[in-house]
Order: sequence, then structure tokens, then C-alpha cells
Amino acid sequence: MDWPDEPAKEISAEIEALCDHRVCQGWQNALRNKHLAQLILWKKPSVVVEVGVFAGRSFLSQALALKQNGAGVIYGIDPYDASIIHEWQINQEEIERARLQAVDGIHRHSLQKHAVLVQATSAVAASLFESIDVLHIDGCHDEENSCFDVATYGPKVRSGGWIWFDDSNYASTQKAVTLLDGMARLENDQWAYRLYRKT
Ligand SMILES: C[S@@+](CC[C@H](N)C(=O)[O-])C[C@H]1O[C@@H](n2cnc3c(N)ncnc32)[C@H](O)[C@@H]1O
Repeated sequence: MDWPDEPAKEISAEIEALCDHRVCQGWQNALRNKHLAQLILWKKPSVVVEVGVFAGRSFLSQALALKQNGAGVIYGIDPYDASIIHEWQINQEEIERARLQAVDGIHRHSLQKHAVLVQATSAVAASLFESIDVLHIDGCHDEENSCFDVATYGPKVRSGGWIWFDDSNYASTQKAVTLLDGMARLENDQWAYRLYRKT
């Protein structure tokens, strides 16, 4: 996949603004979020699902692209429960602050028709989805959960649909990457994140 020199140019200023910690905490840089948004601008999906929202950098970037398209909804799944996060240190007050930033972003950018937050684990939310056009997996990156997300949500992506997998360079995600390799065709490898297409 050849990305344009300026991915998601139409909404790039808004995506860059989301990478300010005072607006949305997080780790993802603007280029990654522009790639996520560009795919949506190109492919015009109806159903986008994201596992792992945190403060909404990737979730809101994709929702902005859906708004630009004038159609489609992103469902962002996150339990916002500090007690189940073991990858890094965070307390309930801090994770709640992240949730409020995601909610605030929906209102600030008038994304109510295109962005739905589902406060649940990926396991609990799985039965909500039958056919997914674009999936972004960025939840818990340990081996068990990353494999669970690929094995549970990957089959729900329609033939010809797209799967983003975040942190594909982690040791703990290598089993999930192998699962993905057997399920879909690698379209783009950005080292720290990958894009696959279901055949
Ligand atoms: C790396 S952060 C997501 C970053 C986000 N995509 C962004 O753009 O900033 C991972 C998130 O996964 C969530 N998470 C942890 N376990 C989860 C689970 N079982 N199901 C869904 N989300 C989970 C955490 O609450 C955390 O907010």
C-alpha cells in the first residue's frame, strides 16, 4: 500500500491536535492515526471496531474520517478498569480521566453520529459484532489477550475487510501476529503496527 505524502490531509490538523496530552493522553503519534484515518477515507467502511480506546487518539482520528465520509460508525471497546491493566501502572482515577477525554472528543468534534464507546472488555463485547469492515486491535498486548482479540474478532472481519494490529513488534504479540499471518494477507508493515487484508 502506498500512502500519500500527507495521509488524511483533509483532517490532518484535527488529528495532530489529538496528540496533545492535555487533549488526549496516549502514545500513538499523529502519523499512525493519519494512516488509520486514510484507510477509512479511501475504503469508506460502514462498521469499524477498535479494541483498546484509552483517551481516544486512534478512535477519534478514525471517527473524524468517518464524519468526513458522511457515513459509518466506529465502535470503541474499552473496559476502563484499572484493576485489569497489568502492562503499566495506572489507577482508576487516571483511567477515568482517559475515558472522559475520549467522551469529550466525541462532543468537541461533533462525532455523535459516527463514534460509539462500549465500556466492556473485548470478551464481553464480542457478541455485539457480526460483520466488521475495519478492525483496529490495540487492547491488552499480553500474549493471551492479543491472541484472544485476533482469534475472536479476526473471523468477524468480512472478506476483503481490513485489520490493523498495533505493537506488532512486541515479543508478547508474536503469537497473535502468527495467527494473523494465517488469517489475512499482510498489506503494510510499519514495524510497530501492521495492516492486513482478509481474502
Ligand atoms: C494502548 S491503550 C490503547 C491506545 C489507544 N488506541 C490510543 O490511540 O491511544 C490499551 C487500552 O486497552 C484497554 N484494554 C485492556 N484490556 C482490555 C480488554 N480486555 N478489552 C478491551 N480493552 C482492553 C486498556 O484499558 C487501554 O485503555
